[in-house]
Amino acid sequence: MTRKVYKLKKWPKIVLVVLIIMGVLLHFGMKKYKEYQYTQSYEYKLLEVGYSEEQVHILENNLKAEELDKILTYQYNEFITEFVPKKYFIFANLDKYLSQVITKEEDFFKYHGTEGYDYDAIVASVNVGTIDDFYTNTKKTDRDEEYAMMVNKYYELGADYEPDDLVDIPWKYRLGLEKDTVKVRQVAYDAYMQMWEAANNEGIYLLALSGYRSYQDQARVYKQYEDFKGTKYADSIAARPGFSEHQTGLSLDIYSKECQTQSGFKDSKTYAWLIKNAHKYGFILRYPEGKQKLTGYNYESWHYRYVGVELATKVYEEGITYDEYYAYYLAK
Ligand code: DAL
Ligand code: ZN
Repeated sequence: MTRKVYKLKKWPKIVLVVLIIMGVLLHFGMKKYKEYQYTQSYEYKLLEVGYSEEQVHILENNLKAEELDKILTYQYNEFITEFVPKKYFIFANLDKYLSQVITKEEDFFKYHGTEGYDYDAIVASVNVGTIDDFYTNTKKTDRDEEYAMMVNKYYELGADYEPDDLVDIPWKYRLGLEKDTVKVRQVAYDAYMQMWEAANNEGIYLLALSGYRSYQDQARVYKQYEDFKGTKYADSIAARPGFSEHQTGLSLDIYSKECQTQSGFKDSKTYAWLIKNAHKYGFILRYPEGKQKLTGYNYESWHYRYVGVELATKVYEEGITYDEYYAYYLAK
């Protein structure tokens, strides 16, 4: 029996050996390259800093590349991964959020009034600016933002602001004496009238009490409260002159035939209607219950601010104060 021996010629043998060597080299080369590439990844670098895999996912899922670069310049900090996934987290505010956590626990509880770290509360207070005392670090509001402009204890309207399209609300639609006046800007007037009709169709008779107040009017209002019970009391219910939304001509204190006073208004049928419908006409409840630490004012169930239907609807749907909404979505 003859066996056929298949013998490779010399050259093909050499080629085969070279190919095998190249293949092996390529394999190890690729492996090394992949390893190198991984060391360049955020995952690797963050794990190196000390973050767990779960924390790395939180950071990678919520931050842009340049933000991750910045995080890598910090030492490991577990609190970063607590703040990052919060809905209203603003990267530029990270240092301020962290500064609130290192506050002595005792002070923290006193300030935030909650058990444990309430990260959402910290995010909100930093965003709005309430980690600084009210009326500190104030800036001039941007009047060009028109109906969206922010006026609160950090955004000042200034003494000289007076809208040039104020309109009188007829007596039929307001409280007080016939000789009194309640004025608002045209756009807020139109919106109020529409809202008035809609409420009226449902058996509710709205009555506006206070609309535009000049700088001087506001100074008088504030002083009355201050003379009566001091600065702290005045600050809890009235804006200092130049800082009142009433000066924008876009705010209205609204009551009804059914309920014409502050006390009890929150339990009225009118309030229930307003809270459900005001946004459809461009108005938002500006000083909601339980938000004093953010708005700077006691709950005012009667104070509504015109911001336009689109914006009012968004604020309503988010369920946050306008201060928070503005800080997160609108402030530059
Ligand atoms: N009562 C509101 C806060 C004002 O004085 O503008
Ligand atoms: Zn008011």
